[in-house]
Amino acid sequence: MDTVIHEMITEKQIADKISEMAAQINKDYEGKEIHLICVLKGSVFFCCELAKRITVPVTMDFMAVSSYGSGTESSGRLEVKKDLDEPVDGKHCLIIEDIIDTGSTLNLTKKMLLARNPASVKLCTLLDKPDRRKVEIEAEYTGFVIPDKFVAGYGLDYAQKYRNLPYIGEVEFKED
Ligand code: IMP
Ligand code: MG
Repeated sequence: MDTVIHEMITEKQIADKISEMAAQINKDYEGKEIHLICVLKGSVFFCCELAKRITVPVTMDFMAVSSYGSGTESSGRLEVKKDLDEPVDGKHCLIIEDIIDTGSTLNLTKKMLLARNPASVKLCTLLDKPDRRKVEIEAEYTGFVIPDKFVAGYGLDYAQKYRNLPYIGEVEFKED
């Protein structure tokens, strides 16, 4: 199937939003250290740009997960493809996601971290598609709320493509 990308959020809009989010995070975590947990692969661009703007001490770790099952809180399951390298106990963890869609992945990731005895766990997402939510979850920090469209760019992929686009665009699927 052919795909066409229509720009939805510009590179400048993303950069400005990340600066705003970082300013709020710097305020909220004043006097603390933040342990950024970057959820691979979609969040990489966002996490790096955010980290550069955080002025309190930061450590970073990376994990790759995917959720499967019915998408409901009780039966959704998390597959950990790459676990964190460092323990999180006693740390103020901030989970960095590219997008919250049904909410399953972030919900299960948060639960997994909470079971490891951190000082705190908060959620930070660049995009939120609330129309598709199946699990009640809200991030403490949200960049853009978007309609129920499939998007790619700035780390987000369609079939592993388009992650390198500097902007976020809606993917249009064309029948050939
Ligand atoms: P959730 O568990 O349904 O919230 O799914 C979250 C994951 O699905 C995200 O971390 C993305 O990897 C992927 N995803 C959801 N919506 C989109 C989209 O519009 N474009 C690209 N990936 C998406
Ligand atoms: Mg993701």
